[in-house]
Amino acid sequence: MKNISSNDLRELYQEFFELKDHRRIPSAPLVPENDPSVLFTTAGMHPLVPYLTGQEHPEGKRLTNAQKCLRTKDIDEVGDATHATVFEMLGNWSLGDYFKREAIEMSWEFLTSPKWLGIDPRMLAVSVFGGDKDTPGDSEAERIWLNLGVSPERIAKLGKEDNWWPAGGKADGPQGPDTEMFYWTGEEDPPEKFDPDDKQWVEIWNDVFMQFSRTKDGKYEDLPQKNVDTGMGLERVVMVLNGHKSIYDIDTFEALIKYLRDKTGKEDARQLRILADHIKAVTFVLGDEVPVEPSNTDQGYVARRLIRRGILAAKRMNPNEDIAKILGQGAQHVINAYSRVYPWLTKRSGQVEKSLINEVEKFSAALDKGMREFGRITEKKEKGSGLSGQEAFYLYESFGFPIDVTRELVSEAGFVFDQSGEKEFEEKRILHQNRSRTAAAGKFKGGLVDQSEASVKYHTATHLLHQALRQVLGDHVAQRGSNITAERLRFDFSHPEKMTPEQISQVETVVNKIISEDAPVIRKEMSVTEAKKSGALGLFESKYGEKVSVYSVGDFSKEICGGPHVASTASLGLFRVKKEESAGAGVRRIKAVLE
Ligand code: SER
Repeated sequence: MKNISSNDLRELYQEFFELKDHRRIPSAPLVPENDPSVLFTTAGMHPLVPYLTGQEHPEGKRLTNAQKCLRTKDIDEVGDATHATVFEMLGNWSLGDYFKREAIEMSWEFLTSPKWLGIDPRMLAVSVFGGDKDTPGDSEAERIWLNLGVSPERIAKLGKEDNWWPAGGKADGPQGPDTEMFYWTGEEDPPEKFDPDDKQWVEIWNDVFMQFSRTKDGKYEDLPQKNVDTGMGLERVVMVLNGHKSIYDIDTFEALIKYLRDKTGKEDARQLRILADHIKAVTFVLGDEVPVEPSNTDQGYVARRLIRRGILAAKRMNPNEDIAKILGQGAQHVINAYSRVYPWLTKRSGQVEKSLINEVEKFSAALDKGMREFGRITEKKEKGSGLSGQEAFYLYESFGFPIDVTRELVSEAGFVFDQSGEKEFEEKRILHQNRSRTAAAGKFKGGLVDQSEASVKYHTATHLLHQALRQVLGDHVAQRGSNITAERLRFDFSHPEKMTPEQISQVETVVNKIISEDAPVIRKEMSVTEAKKSGALGLFESKYGEKVSVYSVGDFSKEICGGPHVASTASLGLFRVKKEESAGAGVRRIKAVLE
């Protein structure tokens, strides 16, 4: 086993897979393009869904990368030793090429060969899918591990919650059984028998065998091609290889944690980790190539929550410090740690700081109001009496106070918050959460890309709109974001002022003219240089691999894009702009439909 830095592991992993004939592809942005089904990229496979379902990838059938990911699902676990909101996932993919045996053998070689990570096999254990009433167990994966010398005692067989991806097997779209690899982090020697409930075994890698697609009525159908999708947690592997107790002790967190410890004068590991995690996550979100601004909806709301929880954590640790400064300088430490890998962070560093300061100013007022409200609620109470769950929930809902802040305020002020209050609060919170979840269900449905016929049409319409805007308004128009559902498209672009009704109607006319000409949509693969030379529009340059797909619509539009698109434009129908509005400084937003 070797000590290794995050930068070295990121490199080593991709080098290993390049030697196994994989092509290195860049990390996609955190905000998925043209994919309204999730707010953020949560796994390396996410941007690859079209290719897992059969479309050809311009770089071939074997791919590898390091993908930045954001998961809000794990947010309550942040602060423990192994969970973070933003993390990097190292991945290798087979798009209808190798399958279980090669995938598992390569994982094992990378983990245990002295030429690579050189981990002692006694420190490792694995789990495989054990089968349930709908699906047989993965005895093939089990046999492959046994053949590699893993002892039967170290192979756990679990259900779809643990050994299926996406977990549970209830999502639509590509999926299948997986096999996970665990590393023993305990002080004692690893036990002979692997107990997956023992937290000293830390999951470090997951190989998913995507062989099924789940239909709307719950049937698993064979995918046209069998794929492998793997994900190794970069931070966790650096943690275990360097013998650290938590991912917050690794190199990329070092300067940030030290700065926060000095500034707050606190040693509380959990609070420090939460503050560090939220500062890092929000820096990645605000400073990404598709940047997010704090707001009350979608990605912006996630950014806002992270900042506010960060503000609360900072205030709780040291109420006298300048919180805007802690957040701003903290972000700078994150940017320094990653500037070589993610240059966008450096480019947007000024904007990140500005947004953070803005939010601190806004929330400080809410926080103060909430504190006053807390005073008003408690002044009518006798000392020693209780705060109700309803009151705690009111503070949570109206001022964004998490329960632990309220708990602390309660005990400081000499009141009690007993178990029945906690229970009432929790019930209300879950009810509230479910309500928001149901409201958001349309947006988060399967978790994977919506490739319905309607959304494919909107995707092509987006290309037409982009080009039409450039014709009508000028070449300064560039895509700043896009969001497509089966019902409408939303397109953000750079333009300094409100469009006039005449301009909007001209854009509609241009798009509808191309539609009525039934222009063919053609895909060609080429190098990025060729694509640029051909005049193709490209957006987020840093994320392209060497080869790209270029879609052209007749002679009208040409764009670098992953697709999919319609074959020709007549099927699109009538294009109508429904709304044109501001989406931030110098950015306009159009919502449009096909009728
Ligand atoms: N998609 C799988 C996961 O997220 C493997 O990368 O665990």
